[in-house]
Amino acid sequence: MTTEHAEPGAATSPRLTVIGTGYLGATHAVCMAALGHQVLGVDVDAAKISRLASGEVPFFEPGLPELLVKALESGRLRFTTSFPEAADFGDVHFVCVGTPQRAGSFAADLSQVEAAVTALARDVRRRALVVGKSTVPVGTAARLAELIRSVAPAGDGVELAWNPEFLREGFAIDDTMQPDRLVFGVSSPWAEQRLREVFAPVIGQGSPVLVTDPQTAELVKVAANSFLATKISYINAMAEVCEAIGADVHDLAVALGLDARIGSRFLRPGLGFGGGCLPKDIRAFLHRAEELGVGHAVAFLRDVDEINHRRRARTVDLVRELAGGDLRGVRVAALGAAFKPDSDDIRDAPALDVANALHQLGARVRVFDPVAMDNARRAWPTLGYGQSTFDVASGADVVVLLTEWSQFREIDPEALGTVVGKRRIVDGRHALEPARWRAAGWEYRALGRP
Ligand SMILES: NC(=O)c1ccc[n+]([C@@H]2O[C@H](COP(=O)([O-])OP(=O)(O)OC[C@H]3O[C@@H](n4cnc5c(N)ncnc54)[C@H](O)[C@@H]3O)[C@@H](O)[C@H]2O)c1
Repeated sequence: MTTEHAEPGAATSPRLTVIGTGYLGATHAVCMAALGHQVLGVDVDAAKISRLASGEVPFFEPGLPELLVKALESGRLRFTTSFPEAADFGDVHFVCVGTPQRAGSFAADLSQVEAAVTALARDVRRRALVVGKSTVPVGTAARLAELIRSVAPAGDGVELAWNPEFLREGFAIDDTMQPDRLVFGVSSPWAEQRLREVFAPVIGQGSPVLVTDPQTAELVKVAANSFLATKISYINAMAEVCEAIGADVHDLAVALGLDARIGSRFLRPGLGFGGGCLPKDIRAFLHRAEELGVGHAVAFLRDVDEINHRRRARTVDLVRELAGGDLRGVRVAALGAAFKPDSDDIRDAPALDVANALHQLGARVRVFDPVAMDNARRAWPTLGYGQSTFDVASGADVVVLLTEWSQFREIDPEALGTVVGKRRIVDGRHALEPARWRAAGWEYRALGRP
């Protein structure tokens, strides 16, 4: 091990592996190296590993490519597909693999976690800490601890802890370097001490640490995501009520958000949530709570999910209404594909769901997104795509804003009006100023607004 970075105490600081180098793992590996640790990133995807090793981030995350190059140049960050190498190298192993929704069920598919932990544990021959960061159903850590004990040559010398991750795509570096809080779910003072060593620079900058048991740590993550999803669906439920009576959910949300007890974050009405986390996490929570016999306690999450999905259907309705009731042959410019701005992640993206529904109803949809085009094309090859906002809007009968990228917020309605076929826009994200668009002669519609 080299100690060229000369961090105070670096010679004794634990060497880290990060298993699973997707959105979460690659960010974690790079940031840990940037903080001065020796890090080995591990993945079963050899192509991903070779891209990362050559300094290329395989997804969009602002600032990460530059930080990856620096970390590689420092000699502190390497990548491999070899689990024996990882087991030999690491003192602390972070598990960051995917936990998608299982096909045909609300349950989480834990096969990646089980495979990764088993492959690692087989070769761990000395004291080590395995730290789960993936989002898992409560009780997973206890099961994995048993698995490790039975598989690892070092037996009880390998401990398991849970350290859930709260990073947001688009802000992943800041959220890793300066998280709102660190949660350490541990079974011993030794495990806590190891985690404190790993996160010393982060803790030193003021991030609070909450030390608890592993099952509470697992729950913190799903409870947080459930809360955020509920807040979004709450304001979208209010949008449905507003639509029934001609009230304005935008004004309602502003007024609610100014109440310090409520706050305005995650209270923006619109097309709702998607992505690789919130939807599958609330469903997995529902499933797990039912297994534990407390399904009734979180049954409301089913409504949260359904409200969220109704927003997508309602957005399609608004486009159809603007188009005069029939979508066949209607040219639609769809602005946005990513599940949110500042990301190229299209997992369960509301934007593409809506674009595809419009396509199914006969519309001639053309999609543009600043960074998610390649992912979108691969996943939805039957949709049309264009080079820019103005390209897809050219000749369009309806424009529909589906992901609130800042470049869409800044569109000049006058300029866009010169290329479209008809000045009609559905603002699926409450991202535009209606007065400005109406003044420029646009028919403007938004969910929950008169
Ligand atoms: N993306 C986020 O913003 C975010 C935030 C917080 C928590 N999480 C959670 O983190 C976890 C990972 O999410 P992600 O978005 O990074 O997923 P991802 O699909 O981008 O990455 C998962 C990675 O794990 C690799 N992998 C699969 N099986 C493996 C194995 N057996 N051994 C080693 N590597 C393996 C895959 O090749 C892939 O690179 C999930 O549980 C997710 O819920 C994600």
